[in-house]
Amino acid sequence: MSQALPLTGKVALVQGGSRGIGAAIVRRLAREGAKVAFTYVSSSASAEALAGEINSGGGQALALRADSADTQAVQQAVADTAKAFGGLDILVNNAGVLAVAPVAEFDLADFDRLLAVNVRSVFVATQAAVKYMGQGGRVINIGSTNAERMPFAGGAPYAMSKSALVGLTKGLARDLGPQGITINNVQPGPVDTDMNPASGEFAESLIPLMAIGRYGQADEIASFVAYLAGPEAGYITGASLLADGGFAA
Ligand SMILES: NC(=O)c1ccc[n+]([C@@H]2O[C@H](COP(=O)([O-])OP(=O)(O)OC[C@H]3O[C@@H](n4cnc5c(N)ncnc54)[C@H](OP(=O)(O)O)[C@@H]3O)[C@@H](O)[C@H]2O)c1
Repeated sequence: MSQALPLTGKVALVQGGSRGIGAAIVRRLAREGAKVAFTYVSSSASAEALAGEINSGGGQALALRADSADTQAVQQAVADTAKAFGGLDILVNNAGVLAVAPVAEFDLADFDRLLAVNVRSVFVATQAAVKYMGQGGRVINIGSTNAERMPFAGGAPYAMSKSALVGLTKGLARDLGPQGITINNVQPGPVDTDMNPASGEFAESLIPLMAIGRYGQADEIASFVAYLAGPEAGYITGASLLADGGFAA
């Protein structure tokens, strides 16, 4: 007897799904049976290729261009997802940017954009998405182990943005709990992506800090997100959960 996939009948939206951790999450949620929309800002070729891969493999995916720093674009992406797939059950706030510079030289335009993408868009998308969600709804933020441990200089605004998600997740859990919606914050350690390649000087400085002395793979974050999105994770909310190879241990 064939069993239904855990996310059959569910609709998901992943903010920032064209590359890296977000693309792994898109693939994983689709493999578990969800219809998946995802946003991107500049990588249209990767985004269209990913949607094509899922659609030609029997799944349903939709790539939407929407800059997470643009409130209206985020709200429109939520509405377009619900319209295209007939609702919205799972929101994954993955879009994020990293800016590193010595404090004296840190460009305040970078500071503002970092906060807009890493924090404000999480609130805006959640606010728009919960209007469509019912009992069993899921919001999953992608924070960082840098909210817990910040071992390098120049990244204070990034660490601050990911620390903000810890409080935002706790507060929103109180708003959303009565509606049967959970919200959690996954905090990856170093994961091999364009943002943080697993080789080079920076990587070599981070690897000895981990209990498991290697970079994570995007799939190792996607599997955790899929668990939190699924029916077995209904009693977990307001939590910030490390998947960091022991970086913060
Ligand atoms: N890699 C790590 O070591 C690590 C560790 C901890 C936490 N994280 C967090 O994990 C998340 C994903 O990181 P990653 O390493 O996969 O990054 P990445 O390789 O740089 O990919 C970022 C993804 O987010 C999208 N994105 C960025 N800015 C956006 C915007 N303004 N609007 C819409 N989409 C946007 C990108 O779209 P385009 O392709 O269009 O640019 C891309 O799909 C981020 O929140 C990051 O802070 C990463």
